Amino acid sequence: STAQAASSRFGFTPIPIQTDFTVHVPEGYSWHPVAKWGEPLFSGVAEFDHAVGGAFADSDKVFGENTDGMEAFVVDGRQLIAVNHEYVNTKTNLPNNEGGTPTSAEDVRKLQNLQGVTVMEVAESDSGWFIVKDSPYNRRIHHNTPMQIAGPAAGHDLLKTPLDPDGTTVLGTMNNCGAGKTPWGTYLTWEENFNGYFGSTDEAVALPEDFARYGIDAESRYAYEKFDARYDLAKNPNEPYRFGYIVEIDPSKPDSMPIKHTALGRFKHENAACALAPDGRVVVYMGDDERGEFLYKFVSEGIYTPGGETSALLDAGQLYVAKFSDDGTGQWVALTPEATGMSTPEIAIMTRIAASKVGATTMDRPEWVAVNPVSVEGYAALTNNKNRGIKPNAGGDDTSVNGPNPREANNYGQIVRWFPADDNHASDTFDWDLYVMAGNPKVAEGLYAGSDNINEGNLFNSPDGMMFDSTGLLWIQTDGDDDNEGEFEGMGNNQMLAGDPVTGQIERFLTGPNGSEVTGLTWSADKRTMFVGIQHPAAPFPDGEGKLARSSVIAVKRDDGALVG
Ligand code: FEO
Ligand code: CA
Ligand code: CA
Ligand code: CA
Repeated sequence: STAQAASSRFGFTPIPIQTDFTVHVPEGYSWHPVAKWGEPLFSGVAEFDHAVGGAFADSDKVFGENTDGMEAFVVDGRQLIAVNHEYVNTKTNLPNNEGGTPTSAEDVRKLQNLQGVTVMEVAESDSGWFIVKDSPYNRRIHHNTPMQIAGPAAGHDLLKTPLDPDGTTVLGTMNNCGAGKTPWGTYLTWEENFNGYFGSTDEAVALPEDFARYGIDAESRYAYEKFDARYDLAKNPNEPYRFGYIVEIDPSKPDSMPIKHTALGRFKHENAACALAPDGRVVVYMGDDERGEFLYKFVSEGIYTPGGETSALLDAGQLYVAKFSDDGTGQWVALTPEATGMSTPEIAIMTRIAASKVGATTMDRPEWVAVNPVSVEGYAALTNNKNRGIKPNAGGDDTSVNGPNPREANNYGQIVRWFPADDNHASDTFDWDLYVMAGNPKVAEGLYAGSDNINEGNLFNSPDGMMFDSTGLLWIQTDGDDDNEGEFEGMGNNQMLAGDPVTGQIERFLTGPNGSEVTGLTWSADKRTMFVGIQHPAAPFPDGEGKLARSSVIAVKRDDGALVG
C-alpha cells in the first residue's frame, strides 16, 4: 500500500493534520522541549519569570526569542547548536507594557538582547536533551555584539558612521532567519527583514532613493529609534547599509568576532546552502525573501581544500542572479560592473538594484534553499505571493506570472529545483522544474489543486524551511495560513513533511501548535535525534495554561532509537 511504501522509504507512518496547540509526531516517535525562550545558558541567571516575560537583568545570557534556522556542530567531542532568534513578540516579551510597546531604553535593550544568535552546548540524559549550562562554548550574539565587515563593501563611504568612521566594524546582527554551514564547519546566519528596525525621530527626514527598494522608511517596528540613536535615520542615515548581509560565526571559538561577508550581497537574506564545484570552488545559493525579488548564487574565486586556508573564500568571488526561461532552462547572470554600470562595492550594497539591471526573474518570495547531498541539484522554497502585481517596494520589477511562478494569486507556494549543467554547481546554466506546487484538490481544480504529488493526505501551504538529511530526503517546513478554512481547508496547523526527490512523494511527519510556524532543523551527531524549531506559538506552548507562549527547540526521536536522518 502507499502507506507501507511511505514507511519503508520515509521511516515513519504519515500523520493527519491537527488544529490544536501542541506538537504531534508519528507513532513510534516522541518529542520534548530542549531550549525555550528565556532559559538560562549560565548558572546564576534567574529562571524564566512568566510575570514579566523574562527579567531584563541577564537578558543577554538566556536562550533568545523566535527560534529559527540552526545547525549542529561537534567541537572537542561536545555537541553544539548555533540557532537564530529571528525577531520578537513584544506583547509576550513586554507583557506589562500596553500593547507591548517599548517605553524605555531598558525595554529596547531587552528586545535587542533577545534577538540574534545563541551558541549552546547540548547533551542527552535519561530524561532527554538539555542545555549544558556554563559550557565554555555557550554564547549570545545580539543587536549590540561587535562584528567585522569584510568583502567589497568594507570601508565604503556608505558604511561609515559616527561610531565607526572606518566602515569596518558594526554592532549587531538582526532578523536572523535561515541558517547554513560552511564546508569548513562554521555557522552562517542571515539578516532578513532588517529594514523594520530603523525609524526616524524626524518624520520629514530626507532618505536616499535606494532605501525605498529595501523598504526602509521613517516608520519602525519596535521604536528602537526613540531610545537608541543608532537606529534613528535622522541621526545615523548610514546605519541600514551595514545590515542585510550574511554573517559567519565560528562556534568553536567563543571569543571570535563574527564577520559580515558583503561579497554575498545585501538583501533580505533567508538562508544559504553551500556546495562545492568539482574544482573546489565554494558555491553559495541564496534567496531574497520578498515578493518579486530574486534567487542568487555566489561562486568563490579561491578553492576549498580541507584543512587549508578558508578566510578569504567568502570575500572574493562572483555574485550571480537567476534568470529562468519558460522552456525549462535558465542561466546565472553575473553581477559585474560591466553588466550593471555599478561599482563592485555598489553591487554588494545595492544588490537588488544591480539584479534588476540584468533582467533577473522575479520570484514568489524565495525562502530557504537546499542542496541535495546525493545528487547535483538545488531547491528553493517559493513560499507564496498573495498580492501579485502590487509592488512591495518602489523600484521593484514587474511581477507578472512566469515559468517557475505560474499562478496569478499564489496563496499556496511551490518548490523550484535546478539541475546545474555538467553536474557542476559553478555552471552558468541549468535546467529547472517544479518539484511541487502546493495546492488544494479538496476545493480547487487545475493549477490551484497543486501538482500530481499533492493529495488529500499531504496538504500544506507556504513551504519555507527546507533541509536535506544525509540520506537525501528533503524536509519541508511550513509558515502559512493555519486557519484550516476555505482554500486552506484540510491543511491544519503548520507542519513538517518529508519529500523524496526521486519519486516526488511527500508525507507529513510533524504538526506544530496552532499559530506557530515550524522552522529550523538539524540533527544530533549520531543522527538519532532531530532538533526542530517551533516559532511564535499562539497559545502557552510548551508550559501550559496560565503561562506565556515560548518559542522552543524540541528534540524528536524514534522510541526504538533508530536513525532519523
Ligand atoms: Fe524569516 Fe522569510 O522568513
Ligand atoms: Ca522563513
Ligand atoms: Ca515565511
Ligand atoms: Ca518567521
